[in-house]
Amino acid sequence: MRSPKDFFRPLAVGAPAPVREVPFRPSRMIHFFDPGNEKMAAKIPAIAPTVDVLLGNLEDAVAADRKEAARSGLVNIAKTTDFGDTQLWTRVNSLDSPWALDDLITLVTEIGDKLDVIMVPKVEGAEDIHYVDRLLAQLEAKARIERPILVHAILETATGVANVEEIAGASPRMQGISLGPADLAASRRMKTTRVGGGHPGYLVREDPNPESAAGEARATFQQDLWHYTIARMVDACAAHGILPYYGPFGDIRDTVACEDQFRNAFLLGCVGAWSLHPVQIEIAKRVFSPAPADVAWARKVIAAMGDGTGAVMIDGKMQDDATYKQCQVVAQLADALAARDPELADAYAAAEKE
Ligand code: GLV
Ligand code: MG
Repeated sequence: MRSPKDFFRPLAVGAPAPVREVPFRPSRMIHFFDPGNEKMAAKIPAIAPTVDVLLGNLEDAVAADRKEAARSGLVNIAKTTDFGDTQLWTRVNSLDSPWALDDLITLVTEIGDKLDVIMVPKVEGAEDIHYVDRLLAQLEAKARIERPILVHAILETATGVANVEEIAGASPRMQGISLGPADLAASRRMKTTRVGGGHPGYLVREDPNPESAAGEARATFQQDLWHYTIARMVDACAAHGILPYYGPFGDIRDTVACEDQFRNAFLLGCVGAWSLHPVQIEIAKRVFSPAPADVAWARKVIAAMGDGTGAVMIDGKMQDDATYKQCQVVAQLADALAARDPELADAYAAAEKE
């Protein structure tokens, strides 16, 4: 067993020192694009300032005969684009594919200084992260990269869910985890063919009314298929100081259900979601930014609570040390987002004056 004392030692001579804390950078939407698609690539400079994270996707949705074009397209885009303070991520092919090794070698040695995070799909356990961790350290040393590239795992196999805590804590490089509902549904043999979202068959039904005639309609309520996994992922991430995300919502036209799915994830603790189409960028921005009224309330409680101990009543609601901490979560997130998003900063300032 490796000594815990060595956890923060670089895994290769000449590799940068691992981070001690995952930096909180706004990442409300991780916007996916296919770097081998020239039409899409041409739009990247215009999209970059409108999103928190741009992700060049090399894995699923890129056909086998387009894998190399996607990889070299990403190298080219990264070398020629000014991303401002928008983060650049990539999703490499899965570790059991014939492309993953070349993805990592090419991307780190060619554009490692531009890449913030590498998303690794179909992670099943800590051993997958350890493999990537050592390889990245070797490549960073070779390419003389000065700050470590972070790693993001997709939670999309039943084994991965069973091992989610060890995945979250496998390396100081671990930045976060996203739910991958499509692969996860297949891996678990769930009977949904949708990418995220609910299913009309997954419901609870109200009890029969003994006073009324048999056969009278009883109300049903659709349940959230993803609640258990998201909650488990959020706990694993929080316990290890990394960030949880909802992944893809495949029904692009159903913007209402997309917003509901994103909001459930936000309320449960996630910091962002993937956007697969420009319409989902605005949805994620709205959902993963706390509402101005909630931020104003949080700041009011924090101001009234002084050093954060004791109890006060505000508008008939009891506040104490615990609600002070809840309000800190909202206020700190608002501060971090406002620093990047001037429109949001104005909306928060206006709500505080009301
Ligand atoms: C994402 O990769 C998914 O499988 O849902
Ligand atoms: Mg997947």
